[in-house]
Order: sequence, then structure tokens, then C-alpha cells
Amino acid sequence: MHPGRYANRAANIRAAAANFQQSLDAEGIALKILCSAEVRLDHEILSWVGEEQIPYLGHWQGERVMLLEFPHSHVPVGADKLVAWLLKQGIRPMIAHPERNKDILRSIDKLLPFVRLGCLLQVTAGAVAGSFGEYAQARAVDLLSRGWVTILASDAHNMEARPPELEPGRVAAAKIVGEEESWKMVRDRPAEIIGSIG
Ligand SMILES: [Fe+2]
Repeated sequence: MHPGRYANRAANIRAAAANFQQSLDAEGIALKILCSAEVRLDHEILSWVGEEQIPYLGHWQGERVMLLEFPHSHVPVGADKLVAWLLKQGIRPMIAHPERNKDILRSIDKLLPFVRLGCLLQVTAGAVAGSFGEYAQARAVDLLSRGWVTILASDAHNMEARPPELEPGRVAAAKIVGEEESWKMVRDRPAEIIGSIG
């Protein structure tokens, strides 16, 4: 959901996912699709929340989880105020790919207020494995070392440039956080958020 770029809302995202599920079922592919959205930081979020237009990722400790995306170039002034407002509504933001944000690449201090507020972090698995360059990799490793990372995700876009691949990132992360924690990041916590055990 990105105003001016991707005019998505809960209803059309759910319809597209249902359509995709139907095709999978018709082909006999045993895959269950759940949908959500990466929500670009924008003042429109305020009305989307009220109008129940956001497909949340699921729940974390009783709160709804919203996948929040900052612009790649910077962390906007006032973003912490929006996060505080979301938390007050019982919505816990999970920040998407913080390791690639230019401000956060320059200084990890830019992320600190959001971690202190209680944001969850979703790092792209490929970034840990080095697919997004050495700077994003160094930042991803830094975030893992600090114990700030909640989950690793594929951020898959397609089968070529951005395939749905987690394992190289999980293996690289395991060297920093250990085998057990790496599995929590790709399997247990995502399962908990979407409300399915194991
Ligand atoms: Fe993104």
C-alpha cells in the first residue's frame, strides 16, 4: 500500500489472494496463501486504520502487526510520532528491511527510537547473505548482533531477481544468532504471528 504508486486496500488485496488460491487449488498445488501488505509510511495510514483498510500480518502478544515501510532514502521526521499513535491503537509496527534504509545505513541511531518504542524488525534474508551489497549486509549483521531482529523474510518479488529464498540468509544469520534462533526467525515467529503453531 503506497499512495501514488500502489493504490491497494484490504479488499482488492484479499480478492487477488483468493484468486491466486483458486488457481493453486485448480492446479492441485498444496499451498495455502495468506495475504497482508507492506504499508508505506504516509499520513493516509491514519484514515486507513479507522476505515479498517489495512490487512495486518497477524497478531503479536495480543496486538495487530502492521508491516511498515519507510521511504528507502530516509527516515521521515515525525515517523516516531506515527508509530507512537499506532501503538496507542493496539497496532505494533514491524519495520520492513531497515538494513536498506539510507539513513539507517549512515547511522543505526536513526533506528533506535523505533526499537525503544517497541517496533518489531523484519530483515530481508538475502541481505544477511550479501545479495543486497556489503553495506546492507553489514547493517543486517549489526542488527542481528544487537538482538533486534524479530524475523527474516524473503521479500520475494519474482523468480529471477528476487526469488522466494530464505535458506542462505538463515544459514548466514545462524552464524551470528545461533541455529535455534535462526529457525525462530524464519519459522516459529512467523507462524506465531499468523496464528498457526508449527
Ligand atoms: Fe519494501
